[in-house]
Amino acid sequence: MKVLVVGTGYVGLTTGVALAYLGHRVVCLDVDEEKIALLNEGKAPIYEPGLPELIALAKNNIQFTTSYDSSEINTCDVIFIAVGTPSLPDGSPDLSQVKASAEAIGERLDDHFVVVVNKSTVPIGSGNWVGTLLREAYRLRKGTKPIGNYAVASNPEFLRQGSAIFDTLYPERIVIGAEDTRAIDVLTNLYRPLLNQDFSSPAFLPRPEELSAVPIVTCDLASAELIKYAANAFLSIKISFANEMARLTSKVGADIVDVMQGIGLDSRIGPRFLQAGIGWGGSCFGKDTAALVSTSKEYGITMPIVQAARDVNYHQRLWVVDTLLRELKILKGRTIALLGFAFKPNTDDLRDAPSLDIARQLLQKGARVAATDPVALGNARRFYSELGVAYFDEPMDALQDADAVVLVTEWPEYRKLDWAGVKSVLANPLIVDGRNFLDHDELTRLGYRYIGVGR
Ligand code: UGA
Repeated sequence: MKVLVVGTGYVGLTTGVALAYLGHRVVCLDVDEEKIALLNEGKAPIYEPGLPELIALAKNNIQFTTSYDSSEINTCDVIFIAVGTPSLPDGSPDLSQVKASAEAIGERLDDHFVVVVNKSTVPIGSGNWVGTLLREAYRLRKGTKPIGNYAVASNPEFLRQGSAIFDTLYPERIVIGAEDTRAIDVLTNLYRPLLNQDFSSPAFLPRPEELSAVPIVTCDLASAELIKYAANAFLSIKISFANEMARLTSKVGADIVDVMQGIGLDSRIGPRFLQAGIGWGGSCFGKDTAALVSTSKEYGITMPIVQAARDVNYHQRLWVVDTLLRELKILKGRTIALLGFAFKPNTDDLRDAPSLDIARQLLQKGARVAATDPVALGNARRFYSELGVAYFDEPMDALQDADAVVLVTEWPEYRKLDWAGVKSVLANPLIVDGRNFLDHDELTRLGYRYIGVGR
């Protein structure tokens, strides 16, 4: 099929490249000329494991452009809108990019049938809204009503940064919401290789042995839109539940890791997303839970469970500072080393990263903050040079003379650090493990004071 993907962020680019890999003809469009120039050189503008390799494998089926006119909208079978929807100060999403792309598409529609798909996470009702934008833009341009040869669908994305290619090629489900059954038929055909799992896997990312087919959920537009928010809210609630329990386990002398393992083995609960720590970050959970709370207000209802998950999460970041205050008594003039700066491993993304809040609070209290990260320092220097954090490429340089070490991001290399050697460069062997990730027994044996979350 011929596919246009508007927006080359994590979702748009991964979707476009994966569909091209599966044999569709894909055009990826972005208004950001710098990104498109990089992509045309075969380079990925974001850090995502496997993405450069998949771009190389798909290169004969994919083109990158900044121009709607050269993307031949009138010959496309499917157009994905996968642009950014960042939060506005009141928590509601900024839909200006969705509006601009829907209008640009609407102006170029003709009588050829095309499915326009909302792939960005957009509020409930956006499918109808995009339909109206397409119609109005068409009418303005052509002076007549469209003959009805387009349909709007919602096809939410569940990929995680850091494993975006895996999640896209081997998804746990595909959700398609539309009022027009033609849209569901077209998208089912588009995704047939994923649904049947009969494409040949890239050598660097083999198909999991147990995966033979992927379930599809077809529903109305509003349900598909809500599935995305409900999934992210539920995952956020799981994490915040683990963090809330961690507060209690540390008081009663229990271990949160054992407690979560003990409940997670119940298949009704499940073991994943129950890792206590310094809470979630990233561009999705915070934004989507805020949007859900804000949507519920519009309808005159409250969402106290979702709101509580948010409160617990942001409070959790303070735990690091409270713990350091309790242990060191005075933070003024102390050096605190942050191991990891990204919101999670395998990404260079700093959006809503716990590291930023922790650093801000420590700096406010007069501490010096030294941070290191294997891939996120480029973004840290680019976007957060004013923060006042000293960034170090080498972990050992960040750790020099530190009064405490905080493990912020569970990058595997931090487990393998020469912790005996690290101890010799620290001013004080105190470790606050914000992800319960380091080897507690080994560190204690080496003479560290080790503090984990809820243990
Ligand atoms: C999340 C969802 O997992 C995806 O399914 C969804 O598609 C995506 O948002 C989105 O809406 O685009 P992502 O934000 O990339 O994906 O990352 P996650 O792996 O979900 O991690 C989010 C945060 O939760 C990280 O800061 C991670 O450290 C934290 N986390 C995760 C915990 O604190 N504990 C856990 O047990 C799991």
